[in-house]
Amino acid sequence: MIFRQLFDQVSSTYSYLLASRHGGEALIIDPVLEKVDRYLQLLRELDLKLVKAVDTHLHADHITGLGALRDETQCITVMGEETKADVVSMRLGDGDKLTIEGMALDVIYTPGHTDDSYSFVMPDRVFTGDTLLIRGTGRTDFQNGDPRAQYASIFGRLLKLPDATLVKSVEDYVELMSNLKLANPKMMDVAVPANMKVGLHQEEIARRGWALSAAQAIGIVGQPDVALIDLRERAERERHGTIAGSLHVPYPSLQENISAGGMLHELAKSTGKRLVFYCAFGERSAMAVQAAQDARLASACHIQGGLAAWKTAGGPIRQ
Ligand SMILES: [Fe+2]
Repeated sequence: MIFRQLFDQVSSTYSYLLASRHGGEALIIDPVLEKVDRYLQLLRELDLKLVKAVDTHLHADHITGLGALRDETQCITVMGEETKADVVSMRLGDGDKLTIEGMALDVIYTPGHTDDSYSFVMPDRVFTGDTLLIRGTGRTDFQNGDPRAQYASIFGRLLKLPDATLVKSVEDYVELMSNLKLANPKMMDVAVPANMKVGLHQEEIARRGWALSAAQAIGIVGQPDVALIDLRERAERERHGTIAGSLHVPYPSLQENISAGGMLHELAKSTGKRLVFYCAFGERSAMAVQAAQDARLASACHIQGGLAAWKTAGGPIRQ
């Protein structure tokens, strides 16, 4: 396994790069915007393909590198389903798996530091964001933090010790955390608004005429000249349902499918069908449209806002 702990001195943020092998897929947890060039260099040196960039929660002390990494590598951006970030490509819930080639991390919801805090568990280590720090815990006094929830997350989920030698009671912990009277992080006024706007700008794809609104999509789905393509992972399809009749082409296999000789490329060329991509929120599908257009599939478009917008518009879902 490849495991790199990376540190940003300005914000005291630890970030983690993971992969199962050289030349394979990689995952980064809590990347910092100012360090993106460094990450890209490291990915090149280790011959890794970044496929997922993950934030454990909406950070207040630094600006996330998620958007920049997506723009540089076309990776998927991932956060928990409670996040107030405008658009991330994939939202995970408690009990889900965070997967890349050769790795599957257990996803656990550990609110308290913030109400969108998640931890990711491997057999021999756990990434806790700011829920649990080295010799401390994250503060709980802003961003809907809650010391009681934090206590439950730490002691009920992260430290499931059978014979815990914990002297601190929940009441002591709540008392302690409620009276720390910490100043806000220096970058909070900048970082929080910036981190809520990590989404890919789907408007640009729409401006080029490559987007369907959910209502337009509801009108054309099922027509014989339309091939609807679902870019999500299997677990997302099982959990959130699918649009009937859609082909499943997971985003990581997109490129081989749209290149000359690929299944989607030949389908579009030989049948004249219009490729209509969709995903969870329209971000992967917007990147897919750009890639398909680059591969000279001029009819390719996507459903803006993804399955979330489709559901809001009253589109039928197959569970
Ligand atoms: Fe934090």
